Amino acid sequence: MNKIRNFCIIAHIDHGKSTLADRMLEMTKTIEGRDMKEQLLDTMDLERERGITIKLQPVTMKYSYVSHQASTNSCKKNSEYVLNLIDTPGHVDFGYEVSRSLKAVEGAVLLVDSTQGVQAQTLANLYQAIEQDLEIIPVVNKIDLPNSEVEKTKTEIINLLGCKENEILLASGKTGEGVDGILRAVIERVPTPRQEKNKPLKALIFDSKYDHYKGVLAFVRIFEGQTKREDDIYLIAGAKKAHSIEVGKFSPGLTATSELKAGDIGYIATGLKNVDECRVGDTITLKNNFDNDKVEPLSGYKKVEPMMYASFYPTEGEDYNQMRDSLEKLKLNDASLVFEGESSPALGRGFRIGFLGVLHLEIIKERLFREFNFEPVITTPSVVYKIKKTTGEVFKIYSSAEMPEPTQIEEIREPRVKLDIIMPSKFLGEVMELVQSTTRSEYLGTEYLDEERLTLSFNAPLADIIVNFHDNLKSATSGFASFSYELVDYQPADLVRLDIYVAEDKVDSFSQIVHRKNSLKTGNRIVKKLKDVIPRQNFLIKIQAAVGGKILARENIRPFRKDVTAGMYGGDITRKRKLLEKQKKGKSRAKQSGKVDIPQQAFLEVLKK
Ligand code: GTP
Repeated sequence: MNKIRNFCIIAHIDHGKSTLADRMLEMTKTIEGRDMKEQLLDTMDLERERGITIKLQPVTMKYSYVSHQASTNSCKKNSEYVLNLIDTPGHVDFGYEVSRSLKAVEGAVLLVDSTQGVQAQTLANLYQAIEQDLEIIPVVNKIDLPNSEVEKTKTEIINLLGCKENEILLASGKTGEGVDGILRAVIERVPTPRQEKNKPLKALIFDSKYDHYKGVLAFVRIFEGQTKREDDIYLIAGAKKAHSIEVGKFSPGLTATSELKAGDIGYIATGLKNVDECRVGDTITLKNNFDNDKVEPLSGYKKVEPMMYASFYPTEGEDYNQMRDSLEKLKLNDASLVFEGESSPALGRGFRIGFLGVLHLEIIKERLFREFNFEPVITTPSVVYKIKKTTGEVFKIYSSAEMPEPTQIEEIREPRVKLDIIMPSKFLGEVMELVQSTTRSEYLGTEYLDEERLTLSFNAPLADIIVNFHDNLKSATSGFASFSYELVDYQPADLVRLDIYVAEDKVDSFSQIVHRKNSLKTGNRIVKKLKDVIPRQNFLIKIQAAVGGKILARENIRPFRKDVTAGMYGGDITRKRKLLEKQKKGKSRAKQSGKVDIPQQAFLEVLKK
């Protein structure tokens, strides 16, 4: 009898996934009470602070199953089960990681906050889970809260899944109520993994991580066969040979075991030096099997390509090498991060970095600051454009700075995506209005999921949805809508480079590629914003937006020495001195652009629409 169960928890952001996982760890005594930090599976400080899960972290628990007399299932009473839990990230930027981790399990606990009800990411994740044929265990969570609406949430879940009311469990991750019932349901309802351990090895990589002592660790679900330390392994999509140093499980730290076999979730220490060689979604087999044509890789592997690029410039030129080292270190654990050195006449030497989306960019920015104390100047993110010059030459550009003069360009093509927005139908008006006013999308169609929810599809320019669409959509629909997108093709578009001049000097990092018909609006927005964030000087500062040298928008900052102590009465000289010190420090961090100091904040403000 197989006593392994592999499952994950899926939920909308903040519905209590990590808290529930913590209770499970406690109850199964995987972690003793005194070692328990809140949200143990969120390992990065940043994750704990923001309360969002960025990186998934698997764990193996042991659970003594005592079935209730009434239960008629075939699970063995009073025996110990091994439960492998994978926590999944919820944000659209990390959708591929979610799909891979779902592939690694047989069941999903669908967690719905009883004070919020079913929300966008609940649906998006649920659909992915259904697509992978997972057994779904619906749970109404946070029932300890006074404003919890258990019955209403149950009805929503029944409408969504078509399940019976008695299949829905009630729980509170906070108090622990009902958590034991969830673990029992996992054992009773989630199918046992197939155990074909005599077939050639097939292990799905659902995550990877760099370890100083053991090299790259591949987090794997073994589908067929088995593996042990010192095996000669082969990564099929990456076409990479390796020799495993160790295999083991997460309980929850890395715990070496003698082998991993079909059905297990664990890690293989590959000894590889670079996470790039060990990509999520790839299949690991034994070298011999591969040489003898005995294995086909597991399906669905895709190499994750950056969706957008932005350049990061250190504020002090001499920090360039240190920043390279820092990026190298971040890359050790983030195979989706790509970067290369570049230089700009105004900003000096810096790096062009590829990202999966804006959240990814923010995470890298925060980590550079927290872990390495860098606060770089960041240029406006850009998608990749294809340019055809009048000479016939065709090439790609990754930032506005690379765009040739308009007279040299015959055609510019931009990436377009199929955009699917899932939402309650009552927001149809708001979402249509948002899409039409902020993007250049073409409407493709509407599909009703049931009476209350629908999917709207568009063909949209990637550039229009990459930066602020996520936040705008959430606020237009009180968080109820979610979206996903898939690259379709490149299409010609009438695009121009919008340049920004501060005190007659062009500031390269503010330049961006926009559609001609939006250039005036965008130009106005940027100059107004800069007017608010650039401090006054003792001379007049002109701020201008231009396309091909023609000024479209302009603002002036009147001369004035900003006296930071002006608002202070009385004579506390030390406080005054402190404020002046602070002002001075702010200045030294600012980037000198010609005659004017542009504060860090200005660069960030320009990114926001
Ligand atoms: P992401 O990682 O961002 O997807 O969030 P999450 O789903 O892991 O949610 P998390 O566990 O971080 O919980 C979000 C907030 O809800 C935290 O402030 C928790 O303390 C709180 N919370 C979680 N479960 C319960 C519960 O059962 N009852 C109450 N009262 N609060 C809860």
